[in-house]
Amino acid sequence: MNNNYKQIVKVAHSNIAFVKYWGKRGRQYPLNPSVSMLIDQCQTKTQCSYQISDQLQVESFQFEGKEQFDFGKRIEQYLESISEVYPLAKRLRLRFESENNFPHSAGIASSASGFAAIANILAEIEWLENNVRLSREQISTLARLGSGSACRSISKAPFNLWGKTKFDLGTDDYSLDLDEKKYSFSEKLADTILVVNQSQKDVSSSFGHSLMNTHFYRESRIEQAHENTRCLLNAIEADNFTDFGEIIENEALSLHAMMMTSMPSYTLLHANTLRVIEKLKDSREKGEIMAYFTLDAGPNIHLIYPESQKDQVKSFVSEFCLDLCEKIIWAPHFGES
Ligand code: DP6
Repeated sequence: MNNNYKQIVKVAHSNIAFVKYWGKRGRQYPLNPSVSMLIDQCQTKTQCSYQISDQLQVESFQFEGKEQFDFGKRIEQYLESISEVYPLAKRLRLRFESENNFPHSAGIASSASGFAAIANILAEIEWLENNVRLSREQISTLARLGSGSACRSISKAPFNLWGKTKFDLGTDDYSLDLDEKKYSFSEKLADTILVVNQSQKDVSSSFGHSLMNTHFYRESRIEQAHENTRCLLNAIEADNFTDFGEIIENEALSLHAMMMTSMPSYTLLHANTLRVIEKLKDSREKGEIMAYFTLDAGPNIHLIYPESQKDQVKSFVSEFCLDLCEKIIWAPHFGES
């Protein structure tokens, strides 16, 4: 390695949305507000070697030891696109080595933690080269310009809000750490990921977002997300996990309903996703478990529950899920030991 290259290592967590960002406009602005939680156990670690140069160049981007030419190009385009807000971008020659501590085929958004780690690296370069500390808001903005959901991975609070709401909270530019004193449950939440299918999804999120522009339900979906954001925050503030759970399930199914009713339409849910959901509802009705589900843009299920439900969740998983899932990822919430 050329000695002129300086090295930085940064880590960022993935996040799971409870109110979903679905649809965007302009420069990566969301059509609607979204609320998320960091997934403590799932993180991306990226090492960057850089030098100041006369032009921008991403020399390599290795992911888990393998060169990812296309992703390197995407990062280069991203850096070009942010040069107005981050002028140093035009003068960087960079090499990246990145790894996730979670399986990339598990349906956990790796672009969120990936771009959040890169935004943290850019902030560090700004500090080293210009002696300027970027604010949390500026770093979140840089992450957003890479991948929308990444702006919510620059977070320290349990819950994070991105997007302007109708009640004077939030902005489309970056995400906010929701005040922990006001917005937290008396018990920390845990997230166990039931990996129904590990194969790569064949429809990208970007394509899915674009279908919202002409979607028949576009306006009502935006309305619904605003209303669900308001109710979700009220439920967290009131420490009401049942209301919270009903909203996150409504959001998860609404996201997939948008996909199934877009033109063209597509389906990412698998038969086993629906089987697990039915089992969960059944167990909940019988009073055996207090857990709710959410889904990302894929078939895998995130079981969300207060920590004290861990034993019940373990029994539920071993009784009903092992035959229906390829893998289980236990991921306690950020902030726990
Ligand atoms: C379903 O952030 O991956 O996970 O902005 O095009 O990179 P881009 O999309 P991305 O979309 C995530 C969509 C989602 C819901 C969410 O995380 O809010």
